Amino acid sequence: MKIISSIAELHDQLRGQLRTAFVPTMGNLHDGHLSLMRLARKHGDPVVASIFVNRLQFGPNEDFEKYPRTFAADVEKLEKEGVYVLFAPTEKDIYPEPQEFRIQPPNDLGNILEGHFRPGFFTGVTTIVMKLFSCVQPRVAVFGKKDYQQLMMVRNMARQFALPTEIIAAETYRAKDGLALSSRNGYLSETERTEAPSLFRELNRVADAIRGGDLDVSLLEKSAIDQLTQRGWQPDYFAIRKRIDLQPPTAGDLATQEPLVILAAAKLGSTRLIDNLEV
Ligand code: PAF
Repeated sequence: MKIISSIAELHDQLRGQLRTAFVPTMGNLHDGHLSLMRLARKHGDPVVASIFVNRLQFGPNEDFEKYPRTFAADVEKLEKEGVYVLFAPTEKDIYPEPQEFRIQPPNDLGNILEGHFRPGFFTGVTTIVMKLFSCVQPRVAVFGKKDYQQLMMVRNMARQFALPTEIIAAETYRAKDGLALSSRNGYLSETERTEAPSLFRELNRVADAIRGGDLDVSLLEKSAIDQLTQRGWQPDYFAIRKRIDLQPPTAGDLATQEPLVILAAAKLGSTRLIDNLEV
């Protein structure tokens, strides 16, 4: 595997490649990331991964400084997956001057759910993804469904800017007890790790209720928030939304069985976890 930090060198290395499959990451790779690499391989060749902890998408009180950086272990894992190039730029490579041009996500998708609780997050994500796409120029790029709103945002951005990159969605990779794998799981204490799967259990409980015909969306959301709070979580949101645009379903949508997704974000101690489940 070639490890490249400079954009010019990356362009040299990938010149003439028409089927590049790209997986952007912030490192601290776990089995979830590795499943993205394997999906990328099915959709293109060569596979290019990136590791870059993108300061732009972290709020001032978030975990940019303490975000786990495990470069040597990450390299070993990517080598085993047969990744061809690891693009691992420094901040100077990516932002040699202040990034004044930025992507402005649409308000209806950008300011709800994650966007509401993490102002500026999606501007940071879409700006770096656009920049990484112009560095790698992939034919396909793989994003996990765990970050459901991010996936939708990137997909809409690629469509609206007519980018030549197809966005591929990967299913969420879970531990045996249901917890969605995430680099932030490493922040959990042993007791918190035991409690953490109850977020997914709550998503399943509400999904089962909907499938069973309970369509009182506000009551279902409230009951989930109450349950989690009682168990010691501090929920940011637990929201039943339409899959198509992440807006709340109307009575008409519910009557016509519009496809739904339940999205949740909650803090356990000082660790913020997100998860979702399609219904
Ligand atoms: O999902 C992530 O790891 C990041 O948001 C991404 C897409 C690599 C952009 O920094």
